[in-house]
Amino acid sequence: MKAVILAGGTGTRLLPLTKLLNKHLLPVGRLPMICYSLISLQAAGITDILLVTAPKALGDFASFLGSGKDYGVSLTYRIQEEAGGIAQALELARPFIGSDDKFIVLLGDNLFEEPLKPHMDAFRSQASGAMVLLKQVPDPERYGVPVFDGGGRIIHIDEKPAAPQTDSCVTGIYMYDGTVFDLIAEQSPSQRGELEITDVNNAFAGKGKLEHRHLSGWWTDAGTFDSLLEANRKLMGDIT
Ligand code: DAU
Repeated sequence: MKAVILAGGTGTRLLPLTKLLNKHLLPVGRLPMICYSLISLQAAGITDILLVTAPKALGDFASFLGSGKDYGVSLTYRIQEEAGGIAQALELARPFIGSDDKFIVLLGDNLFEEPLKPHMDAFRSQASGAMVLLKQVPDPERYGVPVFDGGGRIIHIDEKPAAPQTDSCVTGIYMYDGTVFDLIAEQSPSQRGELEITDVNNAFAGKGKLEHRHLSGWWTDAGTFDSLLEANRKLMGDIT
């Protein structure tokens, strides 16, 4: 399996830090944020990794990470010219994934405790489609929130709903088969002008091809000052 790390976007919620440095290169604990994605993937046996980032940040990533050899991985880089949404960034991975059907996607600002391998093994045994990983959170309105049917299947994901129907969120760890690229091509920009990953996941749900699992360890994003502080405290071992 290959992996894609999405590390584009503008990081506006972390200005002015992100005027100086791409969000995913900001320090968290003892390392720049991006390193945790590489370490998790390498530990799960994934070494062939595409990193998608913004034009301005490419030089910083390349000079810090180079080929990826310090982290035991092989990196390929792609530029997302404008921050047109997570699904638009993912679309850039089509040539990299090629016929290598199933793959994993990490949002570069997601930090988490547990190994990816059991989840990836579950996805390997899934016939086709997509899998998302869920986590209970105190503030689901900040995220994609799943809506379940009576049998516990996700029928829909609401993106940042004002009144969340559950206390779980869809984390930024996604697994897809190659059909994802055709589904992205069918999407239109949302009201905020982005191609939304939630619309793509809803397209899988509509076909009955969206599975989910729950993360049992801690998980946080690090895209706001509060969550960046939380991530720092967790990765310094201050809180569990
Ligand atoms: O963290 C999980 C959440 O991530 C999900 O629950 C939401 O459903 C999903 O939409 C996303 O929400 P955010 O509002 O937190 O996404 P954000 O715009 O902060 O982007 C997350 C990462 O995706 C960011 O670290 C870099 C990457 N990205 C984002 C955009 C908009 C790109 O590479 N390119 C982009 O154009």
